[in-house]
Amino acid sequence: MEVIICPSYDEMSVRAAQEVAVVLNTKPNAVLGLATGSTPLALYKELVRLHKDEGLDFSQVTTFNLDEYVCLNPTHEQSYHYFMQEHLFQHINIPPESIHIPSGTTRNHVAFCDWYENRIKECGGIDIQILGIGSDGHIAFNEPGSSLGSRTRIKTLAKVTIDDNARFFKKAEDVPIYAITMGVGTILEARKLLLVANGDGKAGAVAQAIEGPVTSMITASALQLHPDSVIYIDEAASASLKMCDYYRWIQDNKPGAPKPE
Ligand code: GLP
Repeated sequence: MEVIICPSYDEMSVRAAQEVAVVLNTKPNAVLGLATGSTPLALYKELVRLHKDEGLDFSQVTTFNLDEYVCLNPTHEQSYHYFMQEHLFQHINIPPESIHIPSGTTRNHVAFCDWYENRIKECGGIDIQILGIGSDGHIAFNEPGSSLGSRTRIKTLAKVTIDDNARFFKKAEDVPIYAITMGVGTILEARKLLLVANGDGKAGAVAQAIEGPVTSMITASALQLHPDSVIYIDEAASASLKMCDYYRWIQDNKPGAPKPE
């Protein structure tokens, strides 16, 4: 697990977008896992800039989003379908049929979740999965207690998550209580994990995810089990980490490591 502390939110976002661009430039038909929330907004803005200014191509890319609120139509302004159109899809050249987002309106959650899992496999698995982190340490909507082997399913949101996300809705009662989310086990199967976190509100969760024990109580700690995970954070989100000097030392010296011939 690599921890990269950036001086600002903007630099964190640009560097994280570079990680995605490297994957897409190496494998034009890559499968990209996407996240929502306020954290990846500048990352998506940079991907859009790379597409417009530097020709980053999405024409062969397939995407899978992590989650969606149950009961919100895709046209609802707080649905993750709407979010993705607004902030990424309408600005890049991705074919609509290559986009996958869990359905918030399916009548059969179990069958839908099975289909979603199978579809990821049919497409060859996720090459790089973008992740945020909730203030309770969740990834996607895998709230505390979610099995580290969990698969795509319907999940009841924690009270703290509903409170955190109430800022996007007119009233707290409007926040859905349920979501369909990829499971921790689903996420761990992606070939590379890229988690972004900024701000002091995330410092506690970030420290527990990186330096705490691997536990289903902080599902982001499952990144410690993954062979290729990278975490980009800003200074504020690094505030509760004990080993900052060590992470910086690793980053400073990494470029000097012997390269394969
Ligand atoms: C929601 C999403 C997560 C996201 C989290 C943090 O709970 N399901 O995927 O990481 O919000 O959101 P924000 O980036 O707005 O803090």
